[in-house]
Amino acid sequence: MIKEKKTVVVGVTGGIAVYKALDVISRLKKKNFEINVIMTESAAKFVTPLSFQSLSQNIVNSDMFAEPRAWEIQHISLAKKADLVLIVPATANIIGKVANGIADDLLSTTIMATKAPVIFAPAMNTNMYSNAIVQENIHKLVKFGYNFINPASGRLACGDEGEGKLADTESIAEYVESMLYDKKDLKGKKVLVTAGPTIAAIDPVRFITNRSSGRMGYAIAEEARDRGAEVLLISGTSKLKAPLGVKVVNVSTNEDMLREVLKHYVDQDIVVKAAAVADYKPKQYSDKKIKKANDDLNLELTKDNDILKKLGELKKEQILVGFAAESNDLIDNAQKKLENKNLDYIVANDITSSDTGFASEDNKVTILCRDGRNLPLEKMSKRQVARKLFDIISEK
Ligand code: CTP
Repeated sequence: MIKEKKTVVVGVTGGIAVYKALDVISRLKKKNFEINVIMTESAAKFVTPLSFQSLSQNIVNSDMFAEPRAWEIQHISLAKKADLVLIVPATANIIGKVANGIADDLLSTTIMATKAPVIFAPAMNTNMYSNAIVQENIHKLVKFGYNFINPASGRLACGDEGEGKLADTESIAEYVESMLYDKKDLKGKKVLVTAGPTIAAIDPVRFITNRSSGRMGYAIAEEARDRGAEVLLISGTSKLKAPLGVKVVNVSTNEDMLREVLKHYVDQDIVVKAAAVADYKPKQYSDKKIKKANDDLNLELTKDNDILKKLGELKKEQILVGFAAESNDLIDNAQKKLENKNLDYIVANDITSSDTGFASEDNKVTILCRDGRNLPLEKMSKRQVARKLFDIISEK
C-alpha cells in the first residue's frame, strides 16, 4: 500500500547488465513510481540515455557540471527528491567509490548526499564479485545501513559460471516497492507463515499431495515483510520463488512442517497457517517401488498430525490464524475449525469456484474472528486478501 507518488532515483552504472535496468524501470513505472535516472558515462556506452528517458518519462541526468536550474544544485536536488535510490546494475567501481567516500560524479555525489534508503543491485564478473576487496566494500556498506540485492549464480555474459548475475528484475522491483511501503504496523513483530502443499510418500517414486500452489501463503509472507515484520516462511513443495527479505525453510512432509513450525513457534507474534497439510499418509511406506500386480491396489492410509490443532493447544500470546478450505457449508465448517483449533481468526475459502481458491491468482474469502464477527470480502487478489487480513489483525 503506497499512498502518494514516490520518487525512485535509479543510478545506472556501466556493465553488460545495463539493458536489464530498462526492465526494472519499466516495472517500477507500472507500480506508479516517479523515476529519475542518473547514468554514469560508461553506462551510456552500453545503452543510450534516450532509452532510459523514454521509459522513465524524464530527462536522464548524467553530466555533473550541467547548468543548474535556478538555485538547484543537481546532485543535491536529486538526493533530496529521492524517496529511495536504487543502483542497478551496481559495478565494483561504484561500490568501491561509495565505500571509500569518493564522490566524483553525479551518481556518487547523489548517493553520498541522500538521506533516503539506498539499494545496490550488483552485477559483475564472478571473480570480481568474489574479490576480497569488493566483498569488504560490500560488508562495510551493509554495516553503514546500505542495502544489497545479492546477485544470482549462473552463466555470465563473459562466459564464466558463478555468482555475479544481476538478481531477477521482478524481485528487484518488488524489493523497491516493499521498502517504500507506508504501512509499517508490523515493525518489530515476528510472523510465521506456512504455505503450499505437503507430500506423503508411498514408495521411492510415488507420493500423495494436493493442488495447493502456495500463492496465498507467499502473498501473506510478502505483505507481512512489507509492513515491517520479520518473516519466516515454512513452505511445502511450492514452485514459487522465495520472496526477497523473507527467511524461507523448505519442507516436504507433514512431519517436517510440524517439526519446523514447533522449533520457531514460541518466539512468534503472529502465525498464519495457509499450508494445505495432508491429513493422511500411507500406513506403510514401501522402500521398494511397488510393482504392478493385481487389478486393484489397496492403499491403507493413516491419520497424520493436525499441526494447527497442536499450535492451538500450545498457544500462549501468539495470534493464531488458520485457513478453512471448504466445498460446502463454508461458514459453519470454518466456525467449527476456529473453535476446535483454538484460533483467533480463520480465513474461510470456498474451493469449488474455478477462478478463485487453490491454484488461481484470486481468492474470495470470509474472515471469521474469535469475537464472533464474520467479514465477507469481495473477490480480490491473494495479496489484497493478505492486506485485509493484517488490517483486521492490526485493528485490535
Ligand atoms: N491444518 C494443519 N494440519 C492438518 C490439516 C490442516 O495444520 N493436518 C491446518 C491448515 O493449514 C489450515 C487449517 O488447518 O489452516 C484447516 O485446514 P483444512 O484442510 O481446511 O481443514 P482440516 O482441519 O484438514 O479438516 P477437513 O480436511 O476435514 O476439512
